[in-house]
Amino acid sequence: MSLPLVLLTHTLPPDWLASLDGRICAVSGPVDATSLTPHLETHLSEAEGLFCLLTIPMRKELLDRMPRLRVVCNMAVGVDNVDVAECTRRGIPVGNTPDILTAATADLTMALLLAAARRLPEAAQDARAGRWKTWSPTGWLGADLRGATLGIVGMGKIGRAVAERARGFGLRIVYIDTSPRQDIEAELGSTFLSLDELIRQSDFISLHCPLTSDTRGLINEFALRKMKPTAVLVNAARGPVVDTVALVRALSEGWIAAAALDVTDPEPLPSDHPLYSLPNCLIVPHIGSATRGTRRRMAEMACENLLAGLEGRRLPYCVNPEVYKT
Ligand code: GLV
Repeated sequence: MSLPLVLLTHTLPPDWLASLDGRICAVSGPVDATSLTPHLETHLSEAEGLFCLLTIPMRKELLDRMPRLRVVCNMAVGVDNVDVAECTRRGIPVGNTPDILTAATADLTMALLLAAARRLPEAAQDARAGRWKTWSPTGWLGADLRGATLGIVGMGKIGRAVAERARGFGLRIVYIDTSPRQDIEAELGSTFLSLDELIRQSDFISLHCPLTSDTRGLINEFALRKMKPTAVLVNAARGPVVDTVALVRALSEGWIAAAALDVTDPEPLPSDHPLYSLPNCLIVPHIGSATRGTRRRMAEMACENLLAGLEGRRLPYCVNPEVYKT
């Protein structure tokens, strides 16, 4: 019996994909693919499985060219790059990699928040450039965390893990989600607010919502202008939740104090983008889940999804379980 053909949009370390050995016929794109390669495109019509990263859009036009497709596995928790509704309509299960990256992403969020609050990029750059002349009582002054307010936008698993960590730094937690979460309020002493109130009260704002039509551009000029001039914005969710043009103005005109971004819009951000020239903007290349253990486990979970889908079993981590209801 011939093995099912699976398109892997990227080449990954073979040991991360060991469970697929001898069970699929794989065609892979390069390590650093930014789009589907012409070679992969030639196999679209035969592919039964798709293993993709979040940088490759999986839209209807592509699905139309994949008549034999039976499973889509995104090696990410977010699936905004995949047209899930269209997959559901075709009865194709879509898998993601939830939970496993919660701790790593929350850790990175705190690293970004601390780095921006204490101006680490500027201080490190000044030290390296010979501008550290003495212990300066007024140099590189940053923000205090203890007693300050952290506004969390999106109190899902990652938002909650950030709240747990932030409490250890003495931050007061306020949050917004689609509805109040009594369990979290009791456990973490956090308060549910409207977005408007959260923006007005917060010294730090950290974004952890998925990218949807409701959250795209949520942090726009209007929102940025309402923030405290001392506020620090952290985005470890998805770039388009923030209006980039408005953010450049907010940072350069002092509407807010600083931003720390793990994600940007566009992504990657071109090297000549104005955000890079702003000393109060820290940008890292979408590394929220980038620890050795987390990335390996994400790949393994995507493989579990892939094999289940190819074998006609229910995906262990499925974002559209309604495909199984018919
Ligand atoms: C990373 O951004 C993910 O969605 O896994």
